[in-house]
Amino acid sequence: MNRIPLRQAARTLRIQILRHNPRDPDSQPRLQTFEIEEADAMTLFIALTEIRERQDPSLQFDFVCRAGICGSCGMIINGRPGLACRTLTRDLPEQITLAPLPAFELIGDLSVNTGKWMRGMSERLETWVHSQNLESLDIDAMEAAMEPELAEQIYELERCIECGCCVAACGTARMREDFVGAVGLNQVTRFRLDPRDERSDAAFYELVGDESGVFGCMTLLGCEDMCPKDLPLATQIAFLRRRMAATT
Ligand code: SF4
Ligand code: F3S
Ligand code: FES
Repeated sequence: MNRIPLRQAARTLRIQILRHNPRDPDSQPRLQTFEIEEADAMTLFIALTEIRERQDPSLQFDFVCRAGICGSCGMIINGRPGLACRTLTRDLPEQITLAPLPAFELIGDLSVNTGKWMRGMSERLETWVHSQNLESLDIDAMEAAMEPELAEQIYELERCIECGCCVAACGTARMREDFVGAVGLNQVTRFRLDPRDERSDAAFYELVGDESGVFGCMTLLGCEDMCPKDLPLATQIAFLRRRMAATT
């Protein structure tokens, strides 16, 4: 006889959130606990939205796409960086603690300014194709076909969504404000691979051949463990470091 499986009772989640508004001189960092009933296929993003709509409209957190694409919803989830929109509450215990990503400017509660950090990194590493053809608007040369395997390799590295989880998970980034992080070194690897970019290895060395770049990485591996896009970050950094060491 087929038995109909008994439906498990919904859990009551206790979500503890680190609250702080740095623009309010009277605000002190504090943990605030909210209780909500868990729903089927509930993500942390849905839980936070429910808290904001039904319990506290002042709760700050970021999101845009709700699909793991925009990189806005990174936060510390029970001690580990992750994306709220891709984290199912059923994969977490009933007691959940949320905090903003460290290493980034705090906007308020769970909202941090990853955009400012990423822009600074991007300007410093000049993360765009450097090419005479681009300057002379030689579009045919810029659109010349590249080997599919190489295009695939570049595409793999371009899957980064700049969520900041690798920076938040990195001990070096926490100790050195000028460290470009696994996300920055991933960008350098991406443009080094690109045949349209005319920069030499020596030029890339100028950008990241010191302790704020490849030689600051202590191979702690948190970046690769926490990257929601499963990018091979530590492997790329090790490869880049070997190339840079050979450049000197
Ligand atoms: Fe996020 Fe991964 Fe990109 Fe780091 S490398 S910013 S963890 S997607
Ligand atoms: Fe940091 Fe990743 Fe290196 S965690 S120390 S960038 S291997
Ligand atoms: Fe876009 Fe989570 S809301 S990645």
